[in-house]
Amino acid sequence: SAIIVVDWNVARKGDVITDDERIRASMPTLKKAIGQLPCKYFFILTHSGRPEGKGYEQGLSLEPIVERARQLLKEEGLEVEIILLPYDLIEAENRIAEVKQAYSDKKIVFVLENIRFYAQERSKDAQLRREFEETLIRLTGTTKDNLLYINEAFDKCHRGQEASMELVWLIPAENRAAGLSLQEEIIKLIEFEQRLTGCLSALFGGAKFDKYSNIGELANRVRESGGRIILVGALVNPYLASKGTQVGSSKMPKEKELKDVEKGLKKVDESKVEIIYPEDFIVKGEEAPQTALSQEMSQVDIGPQTIQKLRQIIQSLKEGDAFILNGGAGIFENPESREGTRQLILAAEQAAERGVVVFAAGGDMNAAIGIIEQELGRPISEKIIRSTGGGVLLTALAKGLMNLSPIAALVVKGSEEAKSDPARTSKNQNATALGSIIASVVSLVAGFAAWKLI
Ligand code: 3PG
Ligand code: MG
Repeated sequence: SAIIVVDWNVARKGDVITDDERIRASMPTLKKAIGQLPCKYFFILTHSGRPEGKGYEQGLSLEPIVERARQLLKEEGLEVEIILLPYDLIEAENRIAEVKQAYSDKKIVFVLENIRFYAQERSKDAQLRREFEETLIRLTGTTKDNLLYINEAFDKCHRGQEASMELVWLIPAENRAAGLSLQEEIIKLIEFEQRLTGCLSALFGGAKFDKYSNIGELANRVRESGGRIILVGALVNPYLASKGTQVGSSKMPKEKELKDVEKGLKKVDESKVEIIYPEDFIVKGEEAPQTALSQEMSQVDIGPQTIQKLRQIIQSLKEGDAFILNGGAGIFENPESREGTRQLILAAEQAAERGVVVFAAGGDMNAAIGIIEQELGRPISEKIIRSTGGGVLLTALAKGLMNLSPIAALVVKGSEEAKSDPARTSKNQNATALGSIIASVVSLVAGFAAWKLI
């Protein structure tokens, strides 16, 4: 059997999938695994959204996702059954046995329910996680030594402490392999690092407040390179609030998000990095842009003055400088609050054409590019490097790729001990570290070619 970890955490509105890119991206690996490996059973682990971790939640079941995967597998012409297992693990075990019997002549892909329904997946207690990892392995009906682990979840490789990502360390090193799109993503990252010779600037938007931990991690590197951090979207609200600026009723972090925000803001402050923030906003229900927000106003986009200023900043970037776009400037899903994001993408496109290394990172940013392409009736320049990985990319840029433990697990041919060895690479991916990263990728790719025949 093989365990395949994917990131099918797609954009969804209830049961409707609004962007299936992440499911599609995993298809070549699934095709290769199902078609070429002499395994009969494949066990897919993935999450969707951020459930409470207190059990089954109807709205975040993988049902619609598995349905979509079923269609795509069929389009690929794969003779395979795909079965979503019940949340209850005893029922799941029974179901596995039944299905194996019913389809004894077929290859079967079993998908575990949203792995974040299980409290153990994200437990802070390493022992609880370990027990869960062992349980997952037991479900496959194969012993560790005969089990293959394929990581096709680049977008969540910064979540090395989640059981589904951590369990790779229990599998013998020679049975671990990198998925095809994971390899591609790593190569993009390396290209980015190689082309970046000037300053690194990053724009953060959207509404995922836990990004403040990424901002905090990246702040020093940005400052040392001579770049700047731009904050837009709902993300800027706590920053403005911390400076005593009124944000009215604009979206603010929830209680449980506050810790990341506070920690990130502290690191930003200590780093002395230059922060650029909006001077005017489009406000919900107001006709004219606003520079001061009253209590009942909520900002949904950046205003024209800010657009002007950000365009100038992007225009001033030179060849060899790098610019990361991560998150929209407003609620770009609605046409009334799309202009900021649209103008940023267009300015970034021009910069990319001039030789600035532009990286559009994260699912939302790439969804925004898709919308703008539709509006324009033309594709946005391919010179913008694109990745659905947001958090992972930022973490890799700040800490070094090999300090992401799920990736190190594919490269380091050790087991448990290697995982806790902090000296694997230097902290930042400077020129010297780059050589070792490239070597690692070569070995990753080689490892992939050698997918063990089990
Ligand atoms: C993502 O969408 O960034 C990944 O799937 C990880 O999700 P998370 O930010 O909820 O851990
Ligand atoms: Mg993300």
